[in-house]
Amino acid sequence: MKDPLSVVAICPRGLEVIVSNELTYLLSHIKPKIKKGGVFFIATAEEVCMLNLWARTPTRLLIVLARTQAKSARELYNCSFKIQWKNWFLPGRTIKVDVNGRGFPKDVSLRYASLIVKDAICDFFRNEYGVRPNIDTKNPDIRIWINFDNSLVTISIDSTGQPLYKRGWRKEGFIAPLKENLAASLIKLTEWDKKTAIIDPMCGSGTFIIEAAGIAAKLPANFILSKKRVFSYQLFADSSPFGNINTKKIYLNAERVWRSGIETSQTYPSLFGFDISQDIIDQAKKNAFMALPKPLAEKISWGVKSLHALTRPNFDKGMILTNPPYGKRMGKISSMDEFITIFSSILKKQFTGWSIWLLTNEKEIVSKIKLRASKKIALRNGDIECFWCKFDIFKGSKFRKESADDNTE
Ligand SMILES: C[S@@+](CC[C@H](N)C(=O)[O-])C[C@H]1O[C@@H](n2cnc3c(N)ncnc32)[C@H](O)[C@@H]1O
Repeated sequence: MKDPLSVVAICPRGLEVIVSNELTYLLSHIKPKIKKGGVFFIATAEEVCMLNLWARTPTRLLIVLARTQAKSARELYNCSFKIQWKNWFLPGRTIKVDVNGRGFPKDVSLRYASLIVKDAICDFFRNEYGVRPNIDTKNPDIRIWINFDNSLVTISIDSTGQPLYKRGWRKEGFIAPLKENLAASLIKLTEWDKKTAIIDPMCGSGTFIIEAAGIAAKLPANFILSKKRVFSYQLFADSSPFGNINTKKIYLNAERVWRSGIETSQTYPSLFGFDISQDIIDQAKKNAFMALPKPLAEKISWGVKSLHALTRPNFDKGMILTNPPYGKRMGKISSMDEFITIFSSILKKQFTGWSIWLLTNEKEIVSKIKLRASKKIALRNGDIECFWCKFDIFKGSKFRKESADDNTE
């Protein structure tokens, strides 16, 4: 392999296997190693560019520059100073250093670690060019990530920049929207065949439905024809491993697939997004037209509907994917218990043959909903511990009386 880079795909905890599967689907030769919150693999710079455009499930792709023991502030400074930063970016770029992990050296706090590495980078550039990069904590050109695993420190440069879940189609101002890469990972966990109908009865900004549309059409996840985003690697120095890459070829391929969405629209799954709010549905529709080729966006059915009025479309089989409001803003429904009772009754009466996937932080969901849970997967939605629960509604099935399966994976 030409100029192999050590890459780590950062992702939400609990979804590492999904990310690893997607990476090997996109790059069949890699041998990913899974760690908590990240998937490590070797790839070329060109492959990293391609992954940034296509990968639906990671949050960002980092290039590991150093991985070494640092037991003190001095050792952290020394290993940071030794990195040939000029091979990656020039001092005219703005930078930000982020630190995470556990088991920091005794004389180093999280904030101090960030300052030490920032100083080392600035000293490196002052030595080389007599000038230092400026700091921009909000919108830096270059992000450096420091991860501590006890005294093992990993120093990486971010090839992505704005996280991959900011695909660029969602307007700000939605209440508790799902991150796009989390929604895509949850869809992948359902093992959806890309043909079966999907409903999100509380769709908000439409994340499940829009991500499902992108998955079915095999679209590049982080490419929008009308609004091309800038990745951090595009701001790297010409002398970096990314300097000579023909990104035009990579973008043309993404554009070709985007345009061929018009052809795939004939065999497209039926996708339905409902919400109680007219404003929210109007915006979800706009999001879809931003996120997808027009013929695919036009195929999606949106509607203003309260959960009480949910009916089954004319399909024997289908999936409901949803994350209900977390205990507030439930329209006429006053509590989570009431929501669960209403939802359970509608499912039982109307959705025989369908599978229901619910993202919830409600620990007692399985016993309260009184349906058999065939899966209950623990994961994190930001800071919230959640479950992604599957309920299968069988013909003639009765509400379960005994406590349900709890197959936490
Ligand atoms: C947590 S948000 C869903 C977020 C969505 N998954 C997204 O990514 O944007 C819950 C949504 O449920 C809607 N909602 C609340 N009560 C409802 C009800 N009774 N019937 C239908 N939708 C309801 C809210 O308007 C809100 O958009």
